Amino acid sequence: MAPDTILIKGPRIIDPGRGVDEVGDILVRDGVILASGTVSPDDIPEGCRVVEAGGLVASPGFIDIHCHLREPGYEYKETIAAGTRAAARGGFTSICCMPNTDPPIDNSAMVEFIQQRARDEGIVRVFPIGCVTKGRKGKELSEMEELAVAGVVAFSDDGDPVEDPNLMRLALTYSSDLGLPVTNHCQDLSLSRNGVMAEGRVATRLGLAGIPSAVEEAMMARDIALAELTGGRIHLAHLSTAGSVPLVRQARERGIPVTAEVCPHHLTITDEWVLGGQASGTGTGASFAYDTMTKVYPPLRGQQDVDALVQGLAEGVIDCIATDHAPHELISKLVTYEDAPSGISVLETALGSALQLVHGGHMSLIALVERMTVGPARVLGASFDHLSTLAPGTTADIVIFDPDLEWVVDPDEFQSMGKNTPLRGATLKGQVVATMVQGRFVYQDGAVV
Ligand code: DOR
Repeated sequence: MAPDTILIKGPRIIDPGRGVDEVGDILVRDGVILASGTVSPDDIPEGCRVVEAGGLVASPGFIDIHCHLREPGYEYKETIAAGTRAAARGGFTSICCMPNTDPPIDNSAMVEFIQQRARDEGIVRVFPIGCVTKGRKGKELSEMEELAVAGVVAFSDDGDPVEDPNLMRLALTYSSDLGLPVTNHCQDLSLSRNGVMAEGRVATRLGLAGIPSAVEEAMMARDIALAELTGGRIHLAHLSTAGSVPLVRQARERGIPVTAEVCPHHLTITDEWVLGGQASGTGTGASFAYDTMTKVYPPLRGQQDVDALVQGLAEGVIDCIATDHAPHELISKLVTYEDAPSGISVLETALGSALQLVHGGHMSLIALVERMTVGPARVLGASFDHLSTLAPGTTADIVIFDPDLEWVVDPDEFQSMGKNTPLRGATLKGQVVATMVQGRFVYQDGAVV
């Protein structure tokens, strides 16, 4: 018997880093990929467990470089246990959690706490992101070296921008010495003021205060200038406007160290959804206008923004898809649009949403998988290379999914504690069948293992 050996038989293997898109087999032993593509029968031991995957896709497990696990401090919204189960159900094998916890992740003890909780309760890999500033207050830099030594993979005050340009300059200078990126939540607060949704026709019709696109683009332009000045790596979080895409493109062309991410919701739905009822496709019934499930930062924007972001992702100007999974307790959303917290629970719908780009003919499946594996790994640096490939000898972090399976989103079935999604009742095409972390299935046949 060889209980630790698993043969994944017959999937379409998509391994973007090696340019592989072919039907074959994957052999895993003791947490490592022994072979992928053609597996010699001589290498398959007697008693090997066989997982039939004909008609399915197998790729490196997805990597999410931006999610909120809420622990410590907000365990009524999400826990590391529930968040990692949601990740497994969504096909993610590595996730990076933002430091807007209470207390925030701004010292090594906090980093170690997250790492320990993840070891004890987590079922996928969890990588903490450390604060740029102490307490996320924007006044004084955190002990960035201490955080780096403790194991953070990036720095961010996400949820809030680093407003002070001089602090951002210093953060980029130090982080470049540490070899880590700074992820900024680009929001010019003096411009966004009391805005709660995208500025435009829908906001005017609903009488809600709008957030202009310049809120994002102004700070993004500043950050790009500071990356050029310092040589530090800036990663631009959750792009939402058409105008952000050429800013990243031009910076790249000028050789400035800039990377960027976009969320599934900004690629697929618009501010029309704030009017309600869109998920059911009827425009009535599923929900009502002022649907607080659509409240997110940055806000949902217009179709022209969605189109530009899709094109930017397809062309590789935007490096990757990140979920910005932001779970909130339901009752907090049962208030006015102004008072509701921003955020959508995304981990479990990310693949189904993202596949709309493939089904809609905007990008190939291998390109999409690249943006969910190799792309995010590239943002984080070389230490993630072994988690984003199916090359023999590397870690067996694998997702198996059916790109054509249609399902109806029911947040009550989410593993996440956050049931806050505007997609309740929506039909998505594409679902995860199994998720393997280091050779062990953590999600299979509709259940967390
Ligand atoms: O919608 C959001 N929710 N955007 C953010 O940047 C933060 C996040 C949260 O923490 O809830």
